[in-house]
Amino acid sequence: MALKIATVPGDGTGVEVIDQAIRVLDAVAKPENLDVAVTPFDFGAKRYLETGHVLDDADLAELKKHDAIFLGAVGHPDVKPGILERGLLLKMRFELDQYINLRPVKLYPGIDTPLARKTTDDIDFICIRENTEDLYCGNGGIARINTPQEISTQEMIATRFGVERAIRFAFEIAKTRPRKLITLVHKTNVLTHCGDTWFRAFNEIGEADYPEITREYHHVDACCMYLVAKPEIYDTIIVPNMFGDIITDLGAAIAGGMGIAASGNLNPRFDRNDPTSGGPSMFEPVHGSSPDIAGKNLANPLAAIDTLSLLLTEIGRIQSNDAAISAGKRIKNAVLAVTPQFTGKTLDRSGYKCDEIATMIIDAL
Ligand code: IPM
Ligand code: MN
Repeated sequence: MALKIATVPGDGTGVEVIDQAIRVLDAVAKPENLDVAVTPFDFGAKRYLETGHVLDDADLAELKKHDAIFLGAVGHPDVKPGILERGLLLKMRFELDQYINLRPVKLYPGIDTPLARKTTDDIDFICIRENTEDLYCGNGGIARINTPQEISTQEMIATRFGVERAIRFAFEIAKTRPRKLITLVHKTNVLTHCGDTWFRAFNEIGEADYPEITREYHHVDACCMYLVAKPEIYDTIIVPNMFGDIITDLGAAIAGGMGIAASGNLNPRFDRNDPTSGGPSMFEPVHGSSPDIAGKNLANPLAAIDTLSLLLTEIGRIQSNDAAISAGKRIKNAVLAVTPQFTGKTLDRSGYKCDEIATMIIDAL
């Protein structure tokens, strides 16, 4: 059965980088015997400005007919901040139950890190961010607004169910990595309720089911310091939503910045034939739609191409599709073969055109 990918190129440079990533997909499908079907969707700022629709139930139902969603970038200067973030990105995460946000932090050869004396051996870990709970639930509200007695609350939510499924996923990732090391990042000294649920679940699950994995715990403030001072101490990080949002930006920065950061919003239990299983996973380069350089063939498609590699390996792993895993690895190897050509250059003004970079990847495949 064909692997069905829904693309959401979105706005600005999102369209260009998805176009180039799909060229790479086409080039890898044949030699890997990968049966794949791609269907584009026009969600994003452009459609919103024209129709007022961001993402409605009919759109979600269409997306659920696919195995994975591949998103370029959304955003436009004429759309008020928050509309697409909440109405599209967060809505997909919640409505499709994408409960894992997977963000690899790996410094590739030839890519510059702002950290002095750190090499590709030092910056190589995976962040697993819980993606459906915590402060992102938006529980709370504002009362007595615009009075001196105004009160606003936004509660931190941790359910044993939500925490446990994220932790179990993280242990499974840790198991596949040679160092067998996992670090929980939280702030248990202050967040004594949510932190406690996380801390107990982490240790109970680890002790019962993953005794071979070494467990560590860091407060989030200390983690920020270590990410800059000694990132080599991390291998697999498991972290709640809000802290995960923050530390993964720090992670992206030390691994070369937004030009290269890939991410997956995963629903590992999704099954196209089971309507109670949520929806497909969504993969996106972390960068935005860069309206300033849009349409000029200047965007760097490396993050999108690396995201495609993540899509294929993760969906392949979840669905036991060996051709997809193999195609994903092949793209990853091509990325690793091409990044040395960026030595001494920046990713966003490298001098290479968007389509040229994709051609370099295709040649390396
Ligand atoms: C991210 C982004 C989103 C988040 C925003 C755009 C809602 O910062 O994917 O990290 O906070 O999760
Ligand atoms: Mn973020």
